[in-house]
Amino acid sequence: MQTLLALNWKMNKTPTEARSWAEELTTKYAPAEGVDLAVLAPALDLSALAANLPAGIAFGGQDVSAHESGAYTGEISAAMLKDAGASCVVVGHSERREYHDESDADVAAKARQAQANGLLPIVCVGENLDVRERGEHVPQTLAQLRGSLEGVGADVVVAYEPVWAIGTGKTATADDAEELAAAIRGALREQYGARAEGIRVLYGGSVKPENIAEICGKPNVNGALVGGASLKVPDVLGMLDALR
Ligand code: 13P
Repeated sequence: MQTLLALNWKMNKTPTEARSWAEELTTKYAPAEGVDLAVLAPALDLSALAANLPAGIAFGGQDVSAHESGAYTGEISAAMLKDAGASCVVVGHSERREYHDESDADVAAKARQAQANGLLPIVCVGENLDVRERGEHVPQTLAQLRGSLEGVGADVVVAYEPVWAIGTGKTATADDAEELAAAIRGALREQYGARAEGIRVLYGGSVKPENIAEICGKPNVNGALVGGASLKVPDVLGMLDALR
């Protein structure tokens, strides 16, 4: 299975900045064997990425409407992302769940909509600090996963992002990541049978060049979803080098 290094820019980079980033990457990028790279950008940046990213690098959105089209002011449809050249989209990021009250059912509807339009959904799950401190992180995350994958096909990526490790500099240990990735794999087997072995499970939360190799070296961790360290090209190159 190819490792997936997915870069979540969050609400950073204007289209002009996106173009500069892609141009800088183009001058320095050498593909790492066995590693797929995807840039998850604000929707307005997608055309700059389509025009300027090196060949072979995927890009996608950070959210998608659960609706096909119509009177949903401000929303962006899966068909629009697809037409802009996107191949994937993040759904259910903890920041969407927290600031936009997205439920598991909302996330599943978005993932289904993405798949119906030929986009690969990257479905995010992960527990808050209080849940971890109570020791309930495994059952809570699996319940969130099952709800978020309701009716969703096996052409999906799952990202485990413990909320307490996002943007805090507190990385879960590689063993913490593997504990949840293995549990997620078990839940995927229940839902998808043998196809679960081909589903990539990512870890996200303060991933950087210094820790990515150990985390992605775990048997059930098939890549990383990276926020802060995705913004500067040298950090991205450092992560790719660490995965070589
Ligand atoms: P950081 O890498 O900045 O902790 O963000 C993780 C994340 O939320 C990626 O989706």
